[in-house]
Amino acid sequence: MSLTHTEVPSTYPPSPEFAKNANATAELYREAEEDRLAFWAKQANRLSWETPFDEVLDWSQAPFAKWFVGGKLNVAYNCVDRHVEAGNGDRVAIRWEGEPVGESRSLTYSDLLAEVSRAANALTGLGVVAGDRVAIYMPMIPEAIVAMLACARLGAMHSVVFAGYSAPALGARIDDAKAKLVITTDGQYRRGKAVSLKEAVDEAVKASSSVEHVLVVRRTGIDVSWTDGRDLWWHDIVGNASPTHTPEAFDAEQPLFLLYTSGTTGAPKGIVHTSGGYLTQSSYTHFNVFDVKPETDVYWCTADIGWITGHTYIVYGPLSNGVTQVLYEGTPSSPDEHRHFEVIEKHGVTIYYTAPTLIRTFMKWGREIPDAHDLSSLRLLGTVGENINPEAWRWYADAIGANRTPIVDTWWQTETGSAMISPLPGVTATKPGSAMTPLPGISARVVDDHGNLVEPSPELGEHASGYLVLDKPWPSMLRGIWGDPERYKETYWSRFAEQGWYFAGDGARYDLDGNIWLLGRVDDVMNVSGHRISTAEVESALVGHSGVAEAAVVGATDDTTGQAIVAFVILMTHHADTPREQMIDELRAEVAREISPIARPREIHVVPELPKTRSGKIMRRLLRDVAEGRELGDTSTLLDPSVFEAIRASK
Ligand code: WTA
Repeated sequence: MSLTHTEVPSTYPPSPEFAKNANATAELYREAEEDRLAFWAKQANRLSWETPFDEVLDWSQAPFAKWFVGGKLNVAYNCVDRHVEAGNGDRVAIRWEGEPVGESRSLTYSDLLAEVSRAANALTGLGVVAGDRVAIYMPMIPEAIVAMLACARLGAMHSVVFAGYSAPALGARIDDAKAKLVITTDGQYRRGKAVSLKEAVDEAVKASSSVEHVLVVRRTGIDVSWTDGRDLWWHDIVGNASPTHTPEAFDAEQPLFLLYTSGTTGAPKGIVHTSGGYLTQSSYTHFNVFDVKPETDVYWCTADIGWITGHTYIVYGPLSNGVTQVLYEGTPSSPDEHRHFEVIEKHGVTIYYTAPTLIRTFMKWGREIPDAHDLSSLRLLGTVGENINPEAWRWYADAIGANRTPIVDTWWQTETGSAMISPLPGVTATKPGSAMTPLPGISARVVDDHGNLVEPSPELGEHASGYLVLDKPWPSMLRGIWGDPERYKETYWSRFAEQGWYFAGDGARYDLDGNIWLLGRVDDVMNVSGHRISTAEVESALVGHSGVAEAAVVGATDDTTGQAIVAFVILMTHHADTPREQMIDELRAEVAREISPIARPREIHVVPELPKTRSGKIMRRLLRDVAEGRELGDTSTLLDPSVFEAIRASK
């Protein structure tokens, strides 16, 4: 054993007190093992169904699944009305903290019911019917959640687009979905300053043939330009609508939402999720992985609603379980680095779920910041989005959790809909850095190219790695890619078609105890601060600039953001005289404009040539070696091995 193993514990068993009161017990694994489908039927029945389902899973059209066949339910009813009907209408659903300090609001479940009903009536008045798509482009304000639930209530699909995306990225998503309505705000706060948001919508829908209306929440009061007939104020339309609305039950497979995510090509994929299965697994995992006690907990997930984590663990999971949660509009450093800890202290947050990149940022800011606050209300911590390095895990446990709280490292994806691999608090003895084992009801394995299990052995140690696959369908699995069934089959189901397994795109390995350690993406998708960005998307933004002839983009390891974007570009000859620095600044701005500031490359290198194979494929693996300053790997398949001298020289 190495020194580090003797200095710090390698496993963290749950405390007896936590285990005694935990929602989850080891019994869950046994139950799921014994009869997986009966187990999922039981979890589905935690929800309220208007018509019970008569079949748990229909996998006859694999890879297109149907879960809870024949069942009917209303997702919004399950997230709102039933808590009010159960007598919990006065429980606070959302404790909202605005970005500007001192601005806050509380909505009880009764308030939420009235707001969602008003919005559903208003949307109906605008002609939104079941099956329609509604784009939502909003900051983190309660109306964003209300808008999502109003769509769900009507059986319309929401397509939430992260408000940090630029107008072209928003426009592409609106067009692909043929959204009828866009819901947005006049502006949003960024470090105390109001900046426009509606402007991007105006630009995005300029050429749209599908958008009939833009519904605008007044958030900041800044001036906006207005298109009469198309643009409507939320406070007029929703504010004046009736606060009562009778929900209709929809089929378990009624599409619930579309969420665009990056794939290995430039075009984002519209991931489709449906109702019964998605809500079942979101609710079940939220209850057991976060151990929520709706009567006493104050839960806070710091994700943005523009990502799947916000959908599942801000909207559908917590609300289906009737919990009280904090919703925070701003960034962790606004107005200063104390903000998150002030929010935890003010609201007595008990469960805190965030991303490793933020934990590493907290580490950099220094421990004196959390130390200045009373964080003793916390009883459970979670992470998601990328693998957490053991050092950051231990810091999180110690500086934030005072070594009292379990940590749940949850592995999942936009496509999986909810958590898949994670410890169960109160049951699992966790190891820092490992997401541990598949949750009860979920099945995964780590395999080689041929589908053989990659098993560690005492002789070989734990270093054999392979691909993570999901070898059995699960309730909250994606049902497809919007408008592109072939791409769905090709992307996820072709690699292990013979076995019928889902290819996750992540590398992984087992340790000697059979726990899973995630190793990052094995495809051309980068993970920057937990945001999925495809190399192809950034390359296409770069070559969109008139000065760029060719571009290759790689994700290089970064201490804070996990990966950072490093681009190599070949300039057009007519730009040979443009000063390098100016060109690089322009290119970085171009990527921010085309996609989002989150996709802005950390480094851009102007190079004379790119390393290519004889078939013309760019060898990103070698560029990653260069970006990370490593020895070059195998260059034998390169068309011209000497290109690296030139690339190195220009770095
Ligand atoms: C990565 C976010 C290691 C992984 C919910 C996955 C993780 C991608 C973890 C999905 C984790 C997410 N440990 N890696 N706990 N959680 N990932 O779609 O590479 O934004 O494939 O969903 O994030 O990102 P997405």
